Formats: sequence, structure tokens, C-alpha cells
Amino acid sequence: MHKDSHDNLILQFYQKVAKNFGLRSSSTMQDPTIRQMEMRFIFLEIDHYIHTHEAYPKILDIGCGNGTLLEALRDRYPKIPLYGLEFTPELYQLAISRNISDCQIILGDMRKVEDYPQDINIIISERALINLANWKQQKTAIDAMAERLLFPGRLILMESFFEPWIQLNQARSEMRLSLIPVSVQNVYLKEKSARYIEKKGFFERKTQMGQHALSNHFYLSRVFHPATRPDQAKGKFSRLVEFLENSLPKSTGQYSPILFRSFEKKLDI
Ligand SMILES: C[S@@+](CC[C@H](N)C(=O)[O-])C[C@H]1O[C@@H](n2cnc3c(N)ncnc32)[C@H](O)[C@@H]1O
Repeated sequence: MHKDSHDNLILQFYQKVAKNFGLRSSSTMQDPTIRQMEMRFIFLEIDHYIHTHEAYPKILDIGCGNGTLLEALRDRYPKIPLYGLEFTPELYQLAISRNISDCQIILGDMRKVEDYPQDINIIISERALINLANWKQQKTAIDAMAERLLFPGRLILMESFFEPWIQLNQARSEMRLSLIPVSVQNVYLKEKSARYIEKKGFFERKTQMGQHALSNHFYLSRVFHPATRPDQAKGKFSRLVEFLENSLPKSTGQYSPILFRSFEKKLDI
């Protein structure tokens, strides 16, 4: 597959991210709540996998960036073989520089099945599929993931979806706030992509945190706070949002474009 103009945009975008953020966990995700919640979701899904299947999985982090997640996985699961696949050479180099034990990091492309390691039980994609230029390319990557996952196998996705993004912007427009655009490097998935994954022989798991676990956070930080904030008050990551978020019993609504989804490979394929 030759590099198209979107690939070049991605490479230039993440080259800058690598230069500006280095090994920091804020690289690619500046909102610490989202990063923390994503990690919690991933750990819960891996713990559940180990408990259910009574086996340690081999884990692949697709679009592993600077290796933040791989290092956190190594700290939590000292015995599990880890793999990372990364497209941007500068981020790949940063991930390599961590020297994570029993962790192979590959400079490659998630659309190419031959770039994947063999015999993987869990594939994680943390906002990586949405970096592909269109649904056709996203399908190609999903096909490669489905092919490379063994049984038992699990696909853990934290990806932005179009439908809740509409809900978020409707809530903003009620408060006369401007629409939040999709960043140039991203193409949001649609609900049909979940159906496509199911057609590839997976069922979607009902997870402990639920798909919309970030809904409160997005409503509070992207709607309520900007709508009520006095001029010149702190704009991002405020105590107000943290206070309200911690006071609410559970996440409601569908206001987070980033959905937490987990798909299990079915036995009969
Ligand atoms: C939103 S970032 C997330 C990085 C990391 N998972 C994190 O949370 O920091 C998406 C990552 O996917 C990588 N990526 C984009 N296209 C890719 C491709 N075709 N194959 C593999 N990785 C890709 C980017 O270089 C980037 O590191």
C-alpha cells in the first residue's frame, strides 16, 4: 500500500506530537481524565479476560504511540508478552526508547496483516482506527485484526463515533456554543462499524464500565462548564468539572464521541 495524502498528514501530525510531547502521557491525549478512564477500561477488560479464560493473553497495542500504554501494561502485568505496532517513526523510536521488557515494537501499518505479530489474544486500539482516511481503510484494518486474533480473542476499542458526536454538538448548540469539529487527522467510526466487526465473527461484550463511560465527563467539560464559566475563569480541566463528575453516581447520556467497546471472538469461526 503506497502512502496517500492522508498518510502524509498523519505522519507530519504525529512527528510534531513526538517532538512536542516526547514520552509524556499527554502525548496524543491532553485530557488526563480521558487517559485515566481509558486505562481503567483496558485493565478491567484484561482482568476479565484472564479471569474468564484462565490464561495470560498476548497483547498487541495498535498505534501504540510513544508507548505510554505499553509501559502501564508492563507495570500491571509483569508476565504478559506485549507487542506494539506504530506507523509514525518518531513515535516508534520513543516507544523503543522505553526498553520495556518482553515487549516487541514494530514499525508498521495496521492495514497490513503481514505487519502484525502472530498468535495474539488481545488487540487494543486507543484512538488509532480513526486515524485511517476512510471506512474502506478502517475495514481493511478490522479485517487484519480479525485475522490475527486467536480464539479466545478480544478486541478492545476506544474510538470516536459519529452518532454520540452529533449528540454532544446538539447539547452544545442548546447552550449557544459552537460545534466541536472532527480534527483533520480523524475520521469517526459509525455504528455500522460495530455491526461489521460482529459480521467478522465477534460479539460485543456488555462491559463493567459501559460504552458511554465518558458521557458525564464530556457533558460537564464540553457543555456545562463552557456554558456557565465566567469570563477569564480556568478553561480546561477545572475543579468544577472534577467535583461534579465525582459527585454524580453514574454516567448518563451519550455525549462522549469516544466509546469504550469490547468484542469477543466467537468459538465457531
Ligand atoms: C490517537 S494516537 C494514539 C496513540 C496511543 N494509543 C496513545 O493513546 O497515546 C493514534 C496512533 O496511531 C498511529 N497510527 C496512525 N495510522 C496508523 C497505521 N496505519 N498503522 C499503525 N499505527 C497508525 C499514529 O501514529 C498514532 O501514534
